[in-house]
Amino acid sequence: MTNPGRFILTFALLTVLLSNPVYAAEERMVIELPSQDKTFVLGHMRGMLEALTDTQQLLLDGDREALKARITQLQSREQDERPQGMGKRLPTAFRVMAQSMRPHWQAIGDPETPETDVRRHVVDLMRVCNACHQTFAIR
Ligand code: HEC
Repeated sequence: MTNPGRFILTFALLTVLLSNPVYAAEERMVIELPSQDKTFVLGHMRGMLEALTDTQQLLLDGDREALKARITQLQSREQDERPQGMGKRLPTAFRVMAQSMRPHWQAIGDPETPETDVRRHVVDLMRVCNACHQTFAIR
């Protein structure tokens, strides 16, 4: 390769290809789910992101009663819509990680929790989101 321009172009192209997640080896544990479970789990994921966004807004507004109602809404929607027997179709590690979010949601939704603690629970909760996303994929 005598042409330096071509060398740089090839190098740049390779860098892009190798760093593209599509080409990176999948290192997460893949969970295969029936479509109703998958629709529910991913829908609940989006619901949690929305609830976290509303949490930030309601903390800014200082409206802890509305925050309590918002967390209750998230939790009762999950219970109402969860497909029958889905727990048994999920790997134990996934369920344990999902359950480890519970004390954080509880503390966030409790108007008696001091605001600094609520904010700490939000950060700890988001660390659980990220840890799980690094560990599992759903197909
Ligand atoms: C127990 C594991 C676990 C936890 C905890 C978890 N997630 Fe997920 N989430 C997943 C998996 C697995 C996917 C699918 C990712 C994939 O297949 O690439 C996902 C997908 C998502 C998606 C995309 C949904 C879609 O429609 O594709 C969002 C948004 C999301 N999660 C938000 C969150 C938020 C916010 C939290 C924390 C409050 C959270 N998740 C906690 C496992 C988890």
